[in-house]
Amino acid sequence: QIIRRFSYNIERKNVKRLCHTKRLLTVGGKYPGPTIFVHEGDNVEVKVTNMSPWNTTIHWHGVRQLRSGWADGPAYITQCPIVPGGTYTYKFTIISQRGTLWWHAHLAWQRATVYGAFIIYPRMPYPFPSLVEAEIPIVFGEWWNGEIEDIETDMKLYGSGPNSSDAYTINGLPGPLYPCYNKDTFIRTIERGKTYLLRIINAALNDELFFAVANHTLTVVEIDAVYTKPFKTKAIMVAPGQTTNVLITANQVPDSTGMFVMAARPYLSSVFPFDNSTTIGFLKYSTPNLKITKTHVKSFTLPSNLPEMEDTPFATEFAEKLRSLGSPEYPCNVPKKIDKRVITTISLNLQDCPVNQTCKGFKNKKFYASMNNQSFVRPSISILECHYRNLSTTLFSSFPERPPHPFNYTGVDPLSENLNTEFSTRILVVPYGTRLEIVLQDTSFLNPENHPIHVHGHNFFIVGSGFGNYDVDCDPKYYNLIDPPERNTVAVPVGGWAAIRIVADNPGVWFIHCHLEEHTSWGLAMGLIVQSGQHPSQCLLPPPDDFPIC
Ligand code: C2O
Ligand code: CU
Repeated sequence: QIIRRFSYNIERKNVKRLCHTKRLLTVGGKYPGPTIFVHEGDNVEVKVTNMSPWNTTIHWHGVRQLRSGWADGPAYITQCPIVPGGTYTYKFTIISQRGTLWWHAHLAWQRATVYGAFIIYPRMPYPFPSLVEAEIPIVFGEWWNGEIEDIETDMKLYGSGPNSSDAYTINGLPGPLYPCYNKDTFIRTIERGKTYLLRIINAALNDELFFAVANHTLTVVEIDAVYTKPFKTKAIMVAPGQTTNVLITANQVPDSTGMFVMAARPYLSSVFPFDNSTTIGFLKYSTPNLKITKTHVKSFTLPSNLPEMEDTPFATEFAEKLRSLGSPEYPCNVPKKIDKRVITTISLNLQDCPVNQTCKGFKNKKFYASMNNQSFVRPSISILECHYRNLSTTLFSSFPERPPHPFNYTGVDPLSENLNTEFSTRILVVPYGTRLEIVLQDTSFLNPENHPIHVHGHNFFIVGSGFGNYDVDCDPKYYNLIDPPERNTVAVPVGGWAAIRIVADNPGVWFIHCHLEEHTSWGLAMGLIVQSGQHPSQCLLPPPDDFPIC
């Protein structure tokens, strides 16, 4: 078995975008960070050395981390931070996973600049028929001209509303709709007649994105490192935390420049003062004698196949087309029966502004977010370590398994008691092997975005989803228990619900949270403890020697 070793130096570096130079937190001075390439079955070791003045951690988003929760990374959930000057080596094995995942810092809003692709080559050949000429990572991000820490503080302290970044980016580059685009536009040359695999990752902090390439059809073949039944589409929707692999064939007739525009813009169910701009890049058919100039880059039209910002019908249809491949080699192991069903609201909330403070949220109140009206408070110690050492603690309490109040979320009721929230560290504890269903009910308060709910340490199956209120007597009858999509992040439809099934086969402590960074900061999160099983192979392994302590 092969050990792949990487070393990450967390350091600050000056980076210029939109004509602004800023000192960013980076891995090895790179923005975005390096791409990791590994193979299915590899042992991976990443030595992280913190040369910055801030605490940090790194999370391997979507990597199952079977029994290796110590390497998962979310600060204060599975580990204490790596302090300035400290090091920690994340060690884990890639077991039965292949495809596109990613990695990012998992403390405060550091993932704004500390992120990159994590690519796992499969043991067996790709299950799709086309010959892939080359693979092209397409990583979406956001850029702020201001200091990330200030934006985060503003949001937390004053409960300010929708933040908006100054640009979206493709592989760190905003493109020609933004100032100083000349060097900062992503252009990739491809050859006419050949097929390419785009590995698309939404690493943006707060927005779901539509993505399309002018004149070309995309064939979706994988989501969140799980193969899907291939289908053709004019565009895709990808939520923060999600990845999507598509095939694209260069089968169009190019003009003399050979340039085809690719573009990503946010999906919002209603107009809101977010960053509603568009990032642009190019796929360019190789035209040997042409040198790309500023004018080539500046003269483009947006792809007509890119959905409009409020295109909920497209977002819904796209999500419904996603199906697990479910082949003999890659079966879909959705649990047909469950041991436990938890129903939780996922909500934005308001709290009165503390005296002598001005709040920038809605109606001079502060924004919060919650699951079953509990806003998650991060403890100052690692929950995983407490759990492993059997340290009894009063810091955590059990997660409520039903919404505390009756609800009807088909309308907006700004006076509802459901707008209130409490603050605590809530954890759902389940025995090893539990077949768990979690129903995520969006409350439709104050929020125009799908909540992309991400589960650490497990994949899950999206067995059902819909608009309006979840009906426990009726909706389960219509679940897809044959080939539901398997992923690690589900975009719960705004004003609707999604039901996910998880086999809790990974002992440890796992974070479940909204992957809109703003909502996580406001408390839209919970913990999941999967207890160890009877057999030694069902137990969490001991922590490594260099495990950071608080
Ligand atoms: Cu992508 Cu909790 O993370
Ligand atoms: Cu959210």
